[in-house]
Amino acid sequence: MAVLITSGLARTFRTKRGPVEAVRGIDLTVEAGEILGFLGPNGAGKTTTLRMLTTLLPPTGGTATVAGHDLTHDPAGVRRRIGYVAQTGGVDPTVSVREELVTQGRLYRLTRQRATARAAELAGDLDLTALMDRPCGALSGGQRRRLDIALGLVHRPGILFLDEPTTGLDPGSRAELWDLVRRLRDEHGTTVFLTTHYLDEADALADRLVIVDQGRIAAEGTSAALKARYGGSPEATLQDTFIAITGHGTPRRDTAPLTV
Ligand SMILES: Nc1ncnc2c1ncn2[C@@H]1O[C@H](COP(=O)(O)OP(=O)(O)OP(=O)(O)O)[C@@H](O)[C@H]1O
Ligand SMILES: [Mg+2]
Repeated sequence: MAVLITSGLARTFRTKRGPVEAVRGIDLTVEAGEILGFLGPNGAGKTTTLRMLTTLLPPTGGTATVAGHDLTHDPAGVRRRIGYVAQTGGVDPTVSVREELVTQGRLYRLTRQRATARAAELAGDLDLTALMDRPCGALSGGQRRRLDIALGLVHRPGILFLDEPTTGLDPGSRAELWDLVRRLRDEHGTTVFLTTHYLDEADALADRLVIVDQGRIAAEGTSAALKARYGGSPEATLQDTFIAITGHGTPRRDTAPLTV
């Protein structure tokens, strides 16, 4: 069953220096329980797409249905069913980790008692238990990232959008996050839509990859299928395959020597 369907989804930003076509028409279907890796070079339109799919930014073209609700006509319905962990999270630096988690639960209308219990549960899952009384502003980068992820899970969303969830995490925390994402899918049937620049992560975690470039889908399929088709062989690395698809990062031979 498809839980996310987009058709011609587009976003143009009006700027003083003219229009910026960040997303130029994305047609995408995501099945329930799928882990989708949404990849692409810097500026490809990944975050803009996620912000549209999570109702934070109105599209300027196209349509989408997310968790059975129309993005434009029923954004509140979409919001209830999804979780979003932004590329840069926004927590209050002065309140404690516990208070931030409980407040998020209260926003989703949990009683204080249930919000407190849920906070403790998530702290266990994301290794935050020892940090519960620390102000958010005092967390390390990786600890903050784990808190951002916990905040996105408070209301047990059916679809979880993660924008570069493991940037800045140490290798152990990254492995734990991969495990958590797999458990969310296996134990709760959660659909996960994630962006990452770590291709080993995409390879290990995603059931299917969508590669965007300049606001359009450049390729999609399983990692093995993309390697065979674009990388030259099923044994190609995902990095070589990615570069073959996007053209970015190809060594340049026609330039003058570096002057620095
Ligand atoms: N509010 C805005 N106004 C004008 N241009 C914008 C705005 N937001 C994004 N853009 C532009 O849209 C394009 C896509 O940006 P987006 O943040 O979606 O890229 P991304 O794929 O998430 O990149 P990264 O991998 O660096 O996070 C970029 O060229 C960006 O500069
Ligand atoms: Mg981004």
